[in-house]
Amino acid sequence: MILVTGGAGFIGANFTLDWLAATGEPVVNLDKLTYSGNLGNLAPIRGDARHAFVRGDIGDRAVVAELLARHRPRAVLNFAAETHVDRSIHGPDAFVRTNVLGTFELLEAVRAHWTALPGGERDAFRFLHVSTDEVYGTLGPDDPPFSETTAFAPNSPYSASKASSDHFVRAYRHTYGLPTVTTNCSNNYGPRQFPEKLVPLMIANALAGKPLPVYGDGQQVRDWLYVSDHCAAIRAVLERGRPGETYNVGGNAEMKNLDVVHELCAVLARERPGRDYASLVTFVKDRPGHDRRYAIDARKIERELGWRPTETFATGLAKTVRWYLDNGAWLSAIQTREYQSWISLQYETTA
Ligand code: NAD
Ligand code: DAU
Repeated sequence: MILVTGGAGFIGANFTLDWLAATGEPVVNLDKLTYSGNLGNLAPIRGDARHAFVRGDIGDRAVVAELLARHRPRAVLNFAAETHVDRSIHGPDAFVRTNVLGTFELLEAVRAHWTALPGGERDAFRFLHVSTDEVYGTLGPDDPPFSETTAFAPNSPYSASKASSDHFVRAYRHTYGLPTVTTNCSNNYGPRQFPEKLVPLMIANALAGKPLPVYGDGQQVRDWLYVSDHCAAIRAVLERGRPGETYNVGGNAEMKNLDVVHELCAVLARERPGRDYASLVTFVKDRPGHDRRYAIDARKIERELGWRPTETFATGLAKTVRWYLDNGAWLSAIQTREYQSWISLQYETTA
C-alpha cells in the first residue's frame, strides 16, 4: 500500500481516486483538513475498504511514525501543502509551518522508518514529493521554458516555502540516501479545485453573475495541465522515476490569463446560455510580485518515462466546466463564511 498526504485536497483527492481505479492498491490518506481539504472530494470512495482516511498534520512526527509502523507503506507521496499564492502574501506563517517545517518533520519520520527497513523493502521504498514550477521564478517572453536544471528563484512566500521543501528533499537524498523523487508541475485545473484559484473562481463567479477579477493587464502566462494528466505523471514517476531525480511536468499549453478567462466564458456560453459572461470581466489591482510567465520543458519525463499529457486545454476545460455544472452542491458547501471572508479580504483590497 501507499501513504498519501494532503489527499483530501484538489490534486491529492484526484490522485487517490485515479490511483484506486488504475491500480486497486490500498491508500492511507493523511490530511489535516485545512480550509482547502474536503472529505467531499473523496465521496466516490466512501466506505471503500482500500482507502483509510486519517486526520492529522504532516508536521506531527509521532502521528506519521505511527502510521508508517502500522501500515508499512511501500511509498509516501507528499501532496500536503498550503498552496494559494495570494494567501501566502496576506499571511506567510502557515506556509512556513506546513511547507517547510511540516515537510522537514515528515522527512524525519520517513527517514527513521526507512533506515530500519529490511534490505528488499528498503531498496523498493520511495518518497515522492509533489512540487511546483513556481520554484524557478519568472520568465521573459522569449526565455526558454524551465528545465530540471534551471536555477531556483522563487518570488512569493508560497514558492519560497516550496523551494525550501524541495531543497530538504534533495538534501535527504544526498546526505542519507533516502530514495526520493520530486515532480515540479505547472498550473493544474479540473474537478474538485478549491474556488480561490483562477479557473474554479471564474466559473463560480460567472455562474453567480459576479465580476471576473483579472489581475493587472491579464497578459501573464501560465502553462495549464488537466489534473488527471498530472496524476498519471506522478504514477509514472513513482513506478519508473530514478531515485534522486526531479521531473518537470507540464501541459504544453501556455496561455495568457485573459485568454483563459475568455475561453472559459465561451464554454459557459455553450453549456449554460443566457448570460453574456465575457461582460463580467473586470480588471483589478495586480498581485504584488506577480510572476509574468511560467513555461515547462517536459521533455525529460517524456523521454525517460514515456509520459505526455492526453488532454488539450480545450478538452480539459470542457470537462472541468461540465463537472462544476454537475456539482453545484459541492460548490455551495465550500462557499462558507470563511470562504466569503477570504473573497472579501482579497478582492476588496484589489478592487
Ligand atoms: P490544495 O490546497 O487543494 O490541497 C492541499 C491539501 O493539503 C488539503 O487537503 C489540506 O487540508 C492538506 N494540508 C495542508 N496542510 C497540511 C498539513 N500540515 N498536514 C496534512 N495535510 C495538510 O492543493 P493542491 O492544489 O491539491 O496542491 C497539492 C500539491 O501540489 C501541493 O504540494 C502544491 O504545491 C502542488 N502543486 C499544485 C499545483 C496546482 O496548480 N494546484 C501545481 C503544481 C504543484
Ligand atoms: O504553477 C503552479 C502553481 O499554480 C501551483 O504551485 C499553485 O499551488 C497554484 O495555486 C497555481 O499558482 P498560480 O498563482 O499560478 O495560480 P492562480 O490560480 O492563483 O492564478 C493563476 C493566474 O491567474 C495568475 O497569474 C494570477 C491570475 N489570477 C488569479 C486569480 C485567483 C487573476 O488574474 N485573478 C484571480 O482572481
